[in-house]
Amino acid sequence: MVTDRCSRSKILWGGIIEEYRKFFPVTEKTPVITLQEGNTPLLKAVNLTKRLNIELDLFLKFDGANPTGSFKDRGMTLALSKAAEDNAKAVICASTGNTSAAASAYAARAGIKAIVVIPEGKIALGKLAQALMHGAHVLQLNGNFDEALNMVKEVVSNYPITLVNSINPYRIEGQKSAAFEICDQLGFAPRYHAMPVGNAGNITAYWKGYKEYKTEGIVSKTPVMLGFQAAGAAPLVNGKPIEKPETVATAIRIGNPASWKGAISARDESGGKIDAVTDEEILSAYKLIAANEGIFCEPASAASLAGVLKLYKQNYFEKGETVVCTLTGHGLKDPDNAIKVSGETIKVRAEFNEVKKVIERIL
Ligand code: F0G
Repeated sequence: MVTDRCSRSKILWGGIIEEYRKFFPVTEKTPVITLQEGNTPLLKAVNLTKRLNIELDLFLKFDGANPTGSFKDRGMTLALSKAAEDNAKAVICASTGNTSAAASAYAARAGIKAIVVIPEGKIALGKLAQALMHGAHVLQLNGNFDEALNMVKEVVSNYPITLVNSINPYRIEGQKSAAFEICDQLGFAPRYHAMPVGNAGNITAYWKGYKEYKTEGIVSKTPVMLGFQAAGAAPLVNGKPIEKPETVATAIRIGNPASWKGAISARDESGGKIDAVTDEEILSAYKLIAANEGIFCEPASAASLAGVLKLYKQNYFEKGETVVCTLTGHGLKDPDNAIKVSGETIKVRAEFNEVKKVIERIL
């Protein structure tokens, strides 16, 4: 019997473990828990560069296009696959929202229970909705992310539960795949790579990925790594932990990053920089990206572009160089913030005359 097999089926994306298997600590015995994460768009920021008169080859790596809407899926496919291989019954994490959404989704897929601990009232509602819908046990802590992380560390030292925060090395392993993809998409490693920094796992992961591609001889150079923290939550910039971090970018509202050393190594080995951007700069970049490039990312994600714009004004870059900004999460997770900052008046009942006025204004 002949079965249909359209020719493109063999080139469809299988998720990061299948696509980059030889770079990961997996064997044929590892059950692959995947939502076909990765393969996210790398878009040239043609409108932004023109509008702001920026002489750079600027690209946006939109990791909000992952299945749960953030880069965390890259790490979670590996963390949950290894947890399943070890017959884990439950996983736990502390989170500013995205880790909890990804952990809950991949745990559901694996048939493993998930417990997530989040700072009460300080995560975007879409992320909370995700954890609830995926059937996680959601605990809200009257404290910040750093306190939540300390709590889950204590839990795993007392119970046979797998920690899936980025101190779990499989998370970093999976997240390095974004660096591979960028090289594969560009055909070379960018000169500069800019990204938001919170708990600092992702910058650690990217740097590992770029270095591995260079060691394998797939690229000849590694990029200069640029990390950006929110000014009210910038322990790496200040050189010491911050007890009460504050920023509108709740995803990176972190005062004592677990991968502190990894971030500093990425900065120093690459000759890069970790700098702070204000909430105003973050929100301005957030709006610029959405209005000019059609990409809706979450506020924390926009810290990467905010940082690049800040350094550009200081003449940090050589003209015409390739700069990639990672946009880590999807804007739909946090619609409240978007509506608040958009400054648009929404007409509940538009009259014909009102429509006419708008059309006359914009044409
Ligand atoms: N961008 C977004 C959208 C995030 O959710 C995070 C971290 C970061 C950037 C920073 O990445 O921590 O590896 O430096 N979110 C974590 C969470 C802390 O719990 O979802 P990082």
